[in-house]
Amino acid sequence: MFASRATHVELSGIRRMFEGAPSGAINLGLGEPDFQPPAHILEALERAVRGGMNKYGPTGGLPELREAIAERLSKHTKVKPEEVLVTTGATEGLAATMQSLVDRGDEVLTPDPGFVLFAPHITLASGTPVFYKVRPEDAFHPRIPELHELVTPKTKAIIVNSPANPTGGVFDKKTIRGIVEVAEDNDLVIISDEVYEPFVYEGRHETFLGTYDKVVYVNSFSKLFSMTGWRLGFLSAPKEFVKTIAKISYYFIACPPTPTQFAVLAGLRGPQDFVVQMVKEFGRRREIVVDALNKIKGFECPWPKGAFYAFPSFRFDMASEALAMKILKAGVICTPGSAFGPGGEGHLRFSYANSRENLVKGMEIVGSVADSLA
Ligand SMILES: Cc1ncc(COP(=O)(O)O)c(C=O)c1O
Repeated sequence: MFASRATHVELSGIRRMFEGAPSGAINLGLGEPDFQPPAHILEALERAVRGGMNKYGPTGGLPELREAIAERLSKHTKVKPEEVLVTTGATEGLAATMQSLVDRGDEVLTPDPGFVLFAPHITLASGTPVFYKVRPEDAFHPRIPELHELVTPKTKAIIVNSPANPTGGVFDKKTIRGIVEVAEDNDLVIISDEVYEPFVYEGRHETFLGTYDKVVYVNSFSKLFSMTGWRLGFLSAPKEFVKTIAKISYYFIACPPTPTQFAVLAGLRGPQDFVVQMVKEFGRRREIVVDALNKIKGFECPWPKGAFYAFPSFRFDMASEALAMKILKAGVICTPGSAFGPGGEGHLRFSYANSRENLVKGMEIVGSVADSLA
């Protein structure tokens, strides 16, 4: 009955874990900040809704928001409003980009382990995901010679993600230069997911924006303003890319939601101390979780440089899904590494988007599960 594309993608492993959770479990599976958006943004949303801004808007987003985003991005490289598209979260931005670029049989390079939507988005566009490895011993950067080897005449694009989910890897300039060279040599589009841009704890965020003339830079307000449920993101690319992606986007969503765009505009124009405080708090939580994991026998956790996930490897003789299930039954939700691709096996992902108190408690529970397995 169903189309093959509907049966070729599976329910995300992350969602599966939520569905099996006992009540009262400490949730370290979350991919969203546990804060509420700041008051001035909430007030702007209320003003918009009460002021009648409840109708369809332009497919590309409100002109004043595109302008504000272009201005913000211009700290990296000069960006014009027509090189910006407002999307229904990075999710829709990534999906519409893939639908715009990929033909049947095209190959797209994507990280392994990598964010759960990347490979299914390629599959849904009738393309073939080709995984490139990122490894703890390389700080989760790709090996550039391996990328060169994976390129074939069918390769259309490469997806990159820094800071990365689930690994916490953050690319340096050298890695970015290497990836751009691979793209230039083979005429590939770079699709760069930078939704964790503000969440960097060591070094600094380096962007792909402005490094090459075929970059689709994808970002989101979800994590930046802690508003994952408002479904607003944006992308920036050369004008002709934006035109085509907007055309596809129209057939999926007609337009991004209007009232939340007004709220986000207030967020961009208002004080940014909320973001600074949030990232500071995540930095403290990172220390709690990584320190605790490295004290548990059987776990080894590299320091994530960005995002808000710890991605330890484990030495127990079982699959990550079985270990995650044991931990779940003991009262902590985490995500099996295998949910992020074959290269994630042997790892678990713990989100530190939870209170310090819950993180301490959660790590004690993980420790007692590990003791019971030793
Ligand atoms: C790497 C990455 N990209 C994109 C998204 C989706 O973000 P949005 O809420 O903007 O759709 C997520 C969400 O967890 C993510 O981790």
